[in-house]
Amino acid sequence: MVATSTLDMHIETDAPLPTWFGIGGVADRLARPRSLGEVVRCVQSEPDLRVLGDGANLLVDDDGIGELVLALTDAAMTSYTINGATGAVTAMAGANLPRLINETVRTGLAGLEGLAGIPATVGGAVVMNAGGAFGQIADAVARVRGVDRAGNVVTLERREIDFGYRRSGLNDLVITSVELALVPDDREKIRARQKDVMAYKKRSQPMAEPSAGCVFKNPTLAGAIDRIGDAGARVSAGMLIDLAGCKGLRTRGGEGGGAEVSPVHGNFIVTHPGALAREVIDLMGEVKRRVFDRFGVELEPEVVVWRRSS
Ligand code: EPU
Repeated sequence: MVATSTLDMHIETDAPLPTWFGIGGVADRLARPRSLGEVVRCVQSEPDLRVLGDGANLLVDDDGIGELVLALTDAAMTSYTINGATGAVTAMAGANLPRLINETVRTGLAGLEGLAGIPATVGGAVVMNAGGAFGQIADAVARVRGVDRAGNVVTLERREIDFGYRRSGLNDLVITSVELALVPDDREKIRARQKDVMAYKKRSQPMAEPSAGCVFKNPTLAGAIDRIGDAGARVSAGMLIDLAGCKGLRTRGGEGGGAEVSPVHGNFIVTHPGALAREVIDLMGEVKRRVFDRFGVELEPEVVVWRRSS
């Protein structure tokens, strides 16, 4: 492996990894590429690098991460263009999704407003196929461009991408830009829909404390997947966690601090000042155990956990 010192790029050491949990370890080395060419060079020198998005769905273990981390924060990696007449949007992978949603709604383009309130970069949202009851980003994707682990620049059409519930099959691609196909429509209608989605979230989810949104994927109903395919026959993990009596479960009893299963929505773990990533991981394990004991359902994490591998 070529040492990163030959990359001819600025490498930050012991770099904080900002995540929405507000806790967790640092990156030994972090690079902020300023072009597609620099992304290619990074991948060629270190194929197993990791890409940091908005940190909205990420938990970094307390002892941090040894692989090179790419943060797509440079202006060249966060820009986007919107064609209001055709609905074609091209966004660099580091573009901020909520900002892009606001801008497309203002322009009178429908297709992203159902994702209102989801914090993410565009690249992160595509890798996870971010979404909820009001839509998923896959439905707006026309094509994705990125760098594969061999360092080749590739462009994938929507039909070539294996999107599914909270998945894209693109985890091995360093996404650099995404083309979206949105639909010109009445601006006030789209804005009203965006407001409804936000209002629903404010009612049903904890917004004040740090969290990474839903911790577990919604599980399929036993057997249903074989009969009807992955067509949304899922039950709310939050509801199962709630029914298993986990709401309010906390890693530090009377002392304050720690990680807590949100009393508002069972599928959110919120962190209090001083919480450790280890506590969130332990609490996830405890929730998983209790739901399995009660319902025989194996919950699968939606939150991505980065652990030091060496
Ligand atoms: N419910 C409970 N107790 C709870 C949570 C939910 O009884 O603690 C019940 C609700 O009352 C409702 C049902 O479960 O009847 C469904 O709840 P909700 O509408 O909150 O939806 P969800 O399936 O729990 C999904 C997404 C969320 C997304 C919402 C709304 C997943 C894993 N979760 O939650 O996404 O915000 O729909 O669109 O797909 C995320 O991905 O980070 C996330 C939060």
